[in-house]
Amino acid sequence: MGRGAREKGMEGWRGWDDYAQFYDWENAQTMGRRDVMFWQRLARRTAGPILELGCGTGRVAIPMAKAGARVVGIDRSASMLARARKRLRRSKHDGSLALVRGDVRFLPFPAASFGLVAAPYGILQSLLDDATLEAALAAAHRVLRKGGLLGIDLVSDLTSWPEYDRRVKLRGRVGRGETRITLIESVRQDRARGLTHFDQEFVERKGRVTRSHPFSLAFRTVSVEEMSARLERHGFLVSAVLGDYQGGPWDPRADVWLILATRP
Ligand SMILES: C[S@@+](CC[C@H](N)C(=O)[O-])C[C@H]1O[C@@H](n2cnc3c(N)ncnc32)[C@H](O)[C@@H]1O
Repeated sequence: MGRGAREKGMEGWRGWDDYAQFYDWENAQTMGRRDVMFWQRLARRTAGPILELGCGTGRVAIPMAKAGARVVGIDRSASMLARARKRLRRSKHDGSLALVRGDVRFLPFPAASFGLVAAPYGILQSLLDDATLEAALAAAHRVLRKGGLLGIDLVSDLTSWPEYDRRVKLRGRVGRGETRITLIESVRQDRARGLTHFDQEFVERKGRVTRSHPFSLAFRTVSVEEMSARLERHGFLVSAVLGDYQGGPWDPRADVWLILATRP
């Protein structure tokens, strides 16, 4: 099967199992903890449990639990969740965070069970077409209590990224420094469908042994205006659109796209 045909049937949850072992290493050098206090502030204001969509390795879910909230994190990737479990045990907050394997389109929770549904760090951009995004928004609406809040962080305009082929993006060491890692990345745009494809290869070198871990991820860019309109169609009321994690207002040049919507 050629690349085009493969990408046609591509689903955004694919790739994360292979990425899991490198996710925290890469993230510490890119997103870091930039958004964590924002989610902790929302968690402190929330009455009732919180659901995080696509909780991954627990980067946001564990700090929200540390802020005193009861949190449920759902993720489709067993490998990402395994890392979250390990981190959670070390954090000693395992009583406040439940980790569930599942798809954000089919939330296995009763209606009206959460005070906040958090969708950090572009999780909704892993839903690559209208049908999957609509299913996730409907599911979020169903599990949110009346008066509850849906918080969405979109990674800003990925379709404006330049395309490149096999660029060395990061280098570093892990473990006690004996393993060297190089991240080689290619970016391709399918602007007609608003999709950005990342082909990543993590190359690990330990002594004379070299191992390569290639995988692909795809994300869809949905504008703030379009996402807001979709939310309103699903019965949400958009209460704020923010352009930074300190609560500043959004404008089209902002590199942070945060939407807060309530279920009236
Ligand atoms: C960018 S990571 C974010 C992880 C975490 N929220 C954070 O901020 O570090 C996106 C996560 O969403 C998960 N994911 C992607 N599509 C999903 C789907 N349809 N259902 C459930 N999880 C999904 C991936 O497995 C991955 O762990």
